[in-house]
Amino acid sequence: MEEHKRPFRPLTDLERDALLQWFKAERRILPWREDPSPYRVWVSEIMLQQTRVDTVIPYFEHFMEVLPDIPSLASADGEILLKLWEGLGYYSRVRNLQKAAVVLTESYGGKLPSDVGSLLRLPGIGPYTAGAIASIAFGKPEPAVDGNVLRVLARLSGYEEDIRKPEARKEAENAVRRSMPERDPGTFTQALMEIGALVCVPNGEAKCGCCPFCGNCFAENENKTDVLPFRSDLPERKKEDRTVLILLDGDKVSLRRRPPKGLLAGLYELPNAPGRLDVDRAVAYARKIGFDPVRTEILPEAVHLFSHVEWHMTGWLMTGSPDEPQAGENGLLSVTRAELDGKYAVPSAFAAYLKILRERMGAEKTKKKD
Ligand code: ADE
Repeated sequence: MEEHKRPFRPLTDLERDALLQWFKAERRILPWREDPSPYRVWVSEIMLQQTRVDTVIPYFEHFMEVLPDIPSLASADGEILLKLWEGLGYYSRVRNLQKAAVVLTESYGGKLPSDVGSLLRLPGIGPYTAGAIASIAFGKPEPAVDGNVLRVLARLSGYEEDIRKPEARKEAENAVRRSMPERDPGTFTQALMEIGALVCVPNGEAKCGCCPFCGNCFAENENKTDVLPFRSDLPERKKEDRTVLILLDGDKVSLRRRPPKGLLAGLYELPNAPGRLDVDRAVAYARKIGFDPVRTEILPEAVHLFSHVEWHMTGWLMTGSPDEPQAGENGLLSVTRAELDGKYAVPSAFAAYLKILRERMGAEKTKKKD
């Protein structure tokens, strides 16, 4: 007998109404939701692509304070921009935001266009973000299918194919398009996202008892919420050993700027080298890059996961002094605690060592006062 594939199906009218009722009662108050201007929807959707809502909220609020509109984003200083994104990861997102803001300022009168075709031509805007802006900010009946929406529809429909395949997204977009109400499609878009975020959640924790689709859902009826949606595994991340150095000179620490291309391009980092360096090799490396250590201390190990690589880090704290003269383009930059906090964007890969560093720099400050 031939295998029967269940396609993504559109919602029935009853299901759509139940979803909208549920959303009205349960929706979270979110800053971009209360004032869904195109700029705010755009920036929030870009932030939310790889980052959780709770993490995004304070970043979003601060970003809007510093860069309240498209022209201010277009003309923002690159370092300030990276600092606003510090800790959110996937920094190409913010570079693309600025590139798009420049295009919008030069060619669209500083405003986002409302049609998906024009939105898709802007840097960093793919089908999901274009659909989200068009529907939420401009009230157009355009689908916005992200991982949450794919999960909801795959479970509801009993879709058992690999949701990583591009056809899956296309089919899901068609199902959403056919489900959209004429009135207020933006609310429908947000309701679908919200049910995926609050009820139809991953990792065996779906709350089917509180779901407006309760009783109609394939995965719930067949006890398959823990296997649907099916998503093929990504290739394994490459493991890399690195040694991170905290180089302290009184109340200053040495940072270094990363190259303009590649992983974490243009961000600042604690100096680090490939491999697990023992004390002699770590000291030799510090000297080579222009720091003269007088005391060394081993630091705990730490791991950081990027999308394609993972860093397995060891660390050394060294006190000493940087060589004169300071800071060529690729040289060490000796910075204060205030500059570290307020000026230089250092990615979360270094979070474990930055925490130690801040404790030490704090301690240094107190010691000096005593
Ligand atoms: N996840 C992605 N987009 C979102 C939005 N607009 N609101 C809440 N969660 C989201």
